[in-house]
Amino acid sequence: MSALPDEFIREIETIVGASGIVRDAERMQSYLSDWRNAYRGKAALVVRPASTDEVAAVVRLCNEHQVALVPQGGNTGLCGGSIPDGSGTQVVLSLTRMTRIREVDPANETITVEAGVVLQMLQEAAVKVGRLFPLSLGAEGSCTVGGNLATNAGGTAVLRYGNMRDLALGLEVVLPDGQIWNGLRGLRKDNTGYDLKHLFIGSEGTLGIITAAVLKLYPAVRSVTTAWVALPSAQAAVELIGLIRGLCGDRLTGFELMSRQSVEFVLRHVAGCNDPFTEVHPWYALIELSDTQPEAPLNDLLEAGIGEALEREWVIDAVLASSEAQVAALWAMRESISEAQNHEGPSLKHDISVPVSRIPEFIETTDQRLLAQFPGVRIVAYGHVGDGNLHYNISKPIGSEDAAFKAQQEAIMRVIYDAAVSFKGSISAEHGLGQAKRAAALRYKDPLELELMRALKATFDPKGLMNPGKVL
Ligand code: FAD
Ligand code: MLT
Ligand code: ZN
Repeated sequence: MSALPDEFIREIETIVGASGIVRDAERMQSYLSDWRNAYRGKAALVVRPASTDEVAAVVRLCNEHQVALVPQGGNTGLCGGSIPDGSGTQVVLSLTRMTRIREVDPANETITVEAGVVLQMLQEAAVKVGRLFPLSLGAEGSCTVGGNLATNAGGTAVLRYGNMRDLALGLEVVLPDGQIWNGLRGLRKDNTGYDLKHLFIGSEGTLGIITAAVLKLYPAVRSVTTAWVALPSAQAAVELIGLIRGLCGDRLTGFELMSRQSVEFVLRHVAGCNDPFTEVHPWYALIELSDTQPEAPLNDLLEAGIGEALEREWVIDAVLASSEAQVAALWAMRESISEAQNHEGPSLKHDISVPVSRIPEFIETTDQRLLAQFPGVRIVAYGHVGDGNLHYNISKPIGSEDAAFKAQQEAIMRVIYDAAVSFKGSISAEHGLGQAKRAAALRYKDPLELELMRALKATFDPKGLMNPGKVL
């Protein structure tokens, strides 16, 4: 039984057709919990519109009937932003049927896509016209452009190309009252007042529904070199980034740091992943250089950088991938950490950022504090260290009860966020706040900033129907 009147549901069905509605309890399940099963909610209905006009009509109707909406893309988010609350009164609005690539303009280096296009499909569409769409992350086979925009996703190529905010030129958005804002401009320069798209990017579905976007394309990459290096410390990683960037400039497209604990989880749980070294090392980095020239001397450059780092004892050992299969294998080790950590029981995910220079100090002090206060917790630190963004994740102690670990979660988060903020960092660099970090944001964000955010929310969504309980 739905919490919504039959008449309302009939009207929704008139808009999206029978195939655009999910009411059956079993079929609804995949929309009601996240990938890790860390968040679970209930919904009155799942609606799957197939066009912007359908989205607008659904949103208008919900606005008239004061029904709250939870926008959802690929449901790969890590903060519970796309999961409804437990009331069973909210409507999940899934964008996954909006999968059209509306326009590709290679000369303008832009592509216009609908919100439900899966990131990998977008990357492939760019390749077809000899271009690159550079956003890249572990969930790219299922996350959507709408979700990437709504969370301002980062990933592994931010160092070179920026995050989703840097890749978006224009948006089409259905506002909470059902009006359609057509801001699909493919302009790199447009100084005509407030840049509204930036309000919707990173707003996690709390200000409107993103239905389409104009995104930037880049020249295709024609040569790539990838190395896996062993490091004595996180400080060595910071020194190495400076060295490689100095030598290679923007050819450095990725620099991912991984602790031994992270790599051990992958080796234990993910079939086909093998340690490139025979010795065990405290830290590892995955380094990628790329260039638009087919014959760019990337191997020579990286070998020179690593050679110097070996002399300075910032690197202990290194392997350069010599085939596409090896490149894929090294990236698989990095991208599988999230999955591997799931096999070790409940975990706490973090995506803090601090200035790159302060990463080592952050790790050292937070490790010490956590282990003193919560003996046995396993610290799984890894991430986009070139952006100062660390996934300082925590797995429960071996042999401890899940419930005991869950009871400590708030206190553990407090230690980590206090440390990030004390190092002039952020509690969320790329995943957003969702429901997971809402309370923390209220604690750590500047009161004036929060007041301005609330004022914006009230202007766009005076009835508070867009993804309530998330962000603010
Ligand atoms: P969802 O999870 O469906 O939604 C996320 C948020 O966006 C929710 O608040 C939702 O309400 C809102 N939303 C979704 N679509 C719309 C829309 N059309 N209009 C308005 N609001 C909308 N993230 C990173 O930034 N970097 C990473 O490196 C990274 N790696 C990941 C690796 C793995 C294995 C996994 C599972 C996740 C990873 N993520 C990463 C998190 C996640 O994939 C990204 O945040 C992704 O951008 C979410 O896209 P989605 O379509 O799944 O969004
Ligand atoms: C990643 O970079 O792998 C994800 O953003 C982090 C995570 O899954 O915790
Ligand atoms: Zn990440």
